[in-house]
Amino acid sequence: MLSFKLSVVVSLLAVTSPAQSHAEPPNDTIGLNEDGKYELSAEGIRALFIPYGASITNLFINDTHGIERDIVLGFDNASHYSIDPFHPHLGGVPGRYANRIKNSSFVIDGMEYNVTPNENYNNDTLHGGPDGWDYRNFTVVAHTSDSITFSIVDPDGKEGFPGEVVSYITYTLSPYAWYIKMVALATTKKTPIMLTSHTYWNLDGFANPDTPTALNHTLSLPFSGQRVGVDGILIPDGTILPNIRYSVNDFWSGPKQIGTNFPSPDLLGNCGTNCTGYDNCYLVNRAQKGSYDWHTHPVATLASSWSGIQVDIYSEQEAFQFYSCGGQNGTLPIKSTQGLEDRPRVVEQYGCVVLEVQDWIDAINHPEWQRQNKQVFGPGDKPYVLEAAYVFSVNDASIG
Ligand SMILES: *[C@@H]1O[C@H](CO)[C@@H](O)[C@H](O)[C@H]1NC(C)=O
Ligand SMILES: *[C@@H]1O[C@H](CO)[C@@H](O)[C@H](O)[C@H]1NC(C)=O
Ligand SMILES: *[C@@H]1O[C@H](CO)[C@@H](O)[C@H](O)[C@H]1NC(C)=O
Ligand SMILES: *[C@@H]1O[C@H](CO)[C@@H](O)[C@H](O)[C@H]1NC(C)=O
Ligand SMILES: *[C@@H]1O[C@H](CO)[C@@H](O)[C@H](O)[C@H]1NC(C)=O
Ligand SMILES: *[C@@H]1O[C@H](CO)[C@@H](O)[C@H](O)[C@H]1NC(C)=O
Ligand SMILES: *[C@@H]1O[C@H](CO)[C@@H](O)[C@H](O)[C@H]1NC(C)=O
Ligand SMILES: *[C@@H]1O[C@H](CO)[C@@H](O)[C@H](O)[C@H]1NC(C)=O
Ligand SMILES: *[C@@H]1O[C@H](CO)[C@@H](O)[C@H](O)[C@H]1NC(C)=O
Repeated sequence: MLSFKLSVVVSLLAVTSPAQSHAEPPNDTIGLNEDGKYELSAEGIRALFIPYGASITNLFINDTHGIERDIVLGFDNASHYSIDPFHPHLGGVPGRYANRIKNSSFVIDGMEYNVTPNENYNNDTLHGGPDGWDYRNFTVVAHTSDSITFSIVDPDGKEGFPGEVVSYITYTLSPYAWYIKMVALATTKKTPIMLTSHTYWNLDGFANPDTPTALNHTLSLPFSGQRVGVDGILIPDGTILPNIRYSVNDFWSGPKQIGTNFPSPDLLGNCGTNCTGYDNCYLVNRAQKGSYDWHTHPVATLASSWSGIQVDIYSEQEAFQFYSCGGQNGTLPIKSTQGLEDRPRVVEQYGCVVLEVQDWIDAINHPEWQRQNKQVFGPGDKPYVLEAAYVFSVNDASIG
């Protein structure tokens, strides 16, 4: 099984860089289905994408009984994303700087920059500001039956960020796998860049009759013995904390159901003031397993014993944000492809999990972490690059 997965990931490396293509953009409306989405498929996997936020909207995997499950959150119709701008970054690419920026400011070469705040009564900037990349339409620059490339040009000064950034997001399906490559270039000035895929998962497609939540999903973060310390509004405070074995944040010593520690008082406040659950940035201490090769060991594994569906996440990124959807409250709708007839068609609290490969959050405000060359890019620098592979498999369903 492992060698099969490795061959999948390695074969994906052959994907060519879209940035080298100078072809005329194709007619964007060709290949759209009636819901305004682009469909890609490969053996064992089918997924739909939209230009809005370069978002994934549907991801179908057959469960252990051969029933197709749509295991990501999204809207049924592409038009709805622009109409309902309060959606919580559903499946898109937050940019140009994912996660939170303390006090909506940072310093580059002695110059202070102030970006547009949009969270906690304007005390910080989340996911690139109120008009971040995942609230804008990307352009489709290439599209085949198993791959699509989106691009965006983010102008100088937009949301307060210095300089223009040009980015290409490529999604490719291969048998049982979804591969992501993100490239971004700062063309005019030095600027922070950090991207991720903000996909919400429920590996049961919200159809598990025992629970509408993801609390019974099992999570493993084998390299994450440490996490970034944060204040009550989830802004890094500069500390790096130990995830002590068997503590609520220990997902490294072995796989654990997400809900296992919910009764523990230690989990109150773990995701901000008065918040019970997870919204934490775990470090990926990969050197622990020897040679540094991101294709050989997943940084995270999420599995549901009800559907049998498992996703192994491979990435070269060195941190991993895990959010247990404590902010959901039964108002966000699920899709027509999800859920059960006799249950409210909404996302309940803890109904999903977000797993974001990225770099150490807000490192632009922590120069002592020495990650400037991973997060600040200027003209002539190497491009920002993120690669990840989500590899799916199906285990036998649990009995009972
Ligand atoms: C794009 O393709 C659609 C569907 O085939 C067609 O109706 C439309 O006229 C085309 N647009 C352009 C600009 O070629
Ligand atoms: C679905 O999306 C398409 C393309 O965006 C749009 O033309 C159509 O009106 C939408 N249908 C509904 C029911 O919203
Ligand atoms: C699920 O199985 C059915 C029946 O074999 C097949 O037609 C379908 O393509 C499969 N779905 C996926 C996503 O592979
Ligand atoms: C927050 O940013 C403002 C500029 O918007 C600056 O004047 C202030 O000193 C900053 N505060 C802290 C605590 O860094
Ligand atoms: C946000 O900043 C204001 C001051 O501008 C402060 O009064 C308030 O307590 C802060 N809110 C949070 C949640 O930190
Ligand atoms: C994105 O494109 C769709 C389809 O053309 C359009 O209806 C929508 O208004 C656009 N949204 C934004 C935020 O530009
Ligand atoms: C589901 O999670 C709950 C709470 O953590 C636990 O009590 C229950 O045993 C779990 N069920 C299964 C089937 O694992
Ligand atoms: C946290 O909960 C306590 C007790 O319910 C409450 O007094 C306090 O105002 C809450 N704080 C915030 C920031 O919501
Ligand atoms: C549920 O969450 C939404 C989105 O954050 C918010 O607008 C709404 O007021 C919340 N509803 C309740 C009942 O808390």
